[in-house]
Amino acid sequence: MKIEVFFTLPQVGEETIREDTAVVVIDVLRATTSICHALAAGCDKMIPVGDLGQVTAFVESLGRGNCLIGGERDGKKISGFDFGNSPAEYTPEAVAGSDIIFLTTNGSRIISRFKNAPCVLIASLANLQRVVDFLADHKGNVVICCAGSKDQFCLEDSVCAGLLVERLLRSAENIELNDAARVGLVLAGSYSGDLLTCFRECSHGQTLIRAGFESDLELCAAVDTLDVLPFYSKERITLQPEVELPLDPPSGELDGDAADAAST
Ligand code: MLT
Repeated sequence: MKIEVFFTLPQVGEETIREDTAVVVIDVLRATTSICHALAAGCDKMIPVGDLGQVTAFVESLGRGNCLIGGERDGKKISGFDFGNSPAEYTPEAVAGSDIIFLTTNGSRIISRFKNAPCVLIASLANLQRVVDFLADHKGNVVICCAGSKDQFCLEDSVCAGLLVERLLRSAENIELNDAARVGLVLAGSYSGDLLTCFRECSHGQTLIRAGFESDLELCAAVDTLDVLPFYSKERITLQPEVELPLDPPSGELDGDAADAAST
């Protein structure tokens, strides 16, 4: 199995996504953690979008009474939205049975860029082991895409990616790593003993603390707290993939839509 880590989306080349590729998206502070909490709380599906125009389009097609809207700009809830981007907001009372359109600065936008990829998983520290268990049986290559911040490197996503790689190395054999995956391993080794301090010190963690979201850092730094494996397919994130997953050996590189999945 080849595992490639990319610290930002623009680093993911078009040739990287093939029929047998499992893509893993990480925005541990906070989008992918919030997605895991929402689905664990009984949300039916989340629809990640890249901009407000897409929010409007989905609201018009679903009907405002039939969906909720969550997300942030500059970390804060957007006017008219039902939720911000704090994982703690996504409780069973608030979200059970709902469809949530989800817009965040980086995480939802990056996920939505993989809409043509054959298999896309949503990872955070909260569901790390579920992602590892799935990938340990995966027969193709693995692309771990960190959301980063506005296409720049982010420490917290890279540490989470490194922890994922570290566990995969213990769970599967014959793993080939790219150099970024090796860097992730080094970062994971440095910070795994105190993830909360890492999150408090990193740039986005500092921004969240200044904005009054310090308690979110604890939820986002908690490892293996949720038994969920969210998949993104057909523009929706659910706990049940709506497409057949590519567990068979590779049959070659894709042409057409799937090959465009990583294009920016
Ligand atoms: C994002 O998608 O950029 C983040 O999840 C921002 C945040 O912490 O709200």
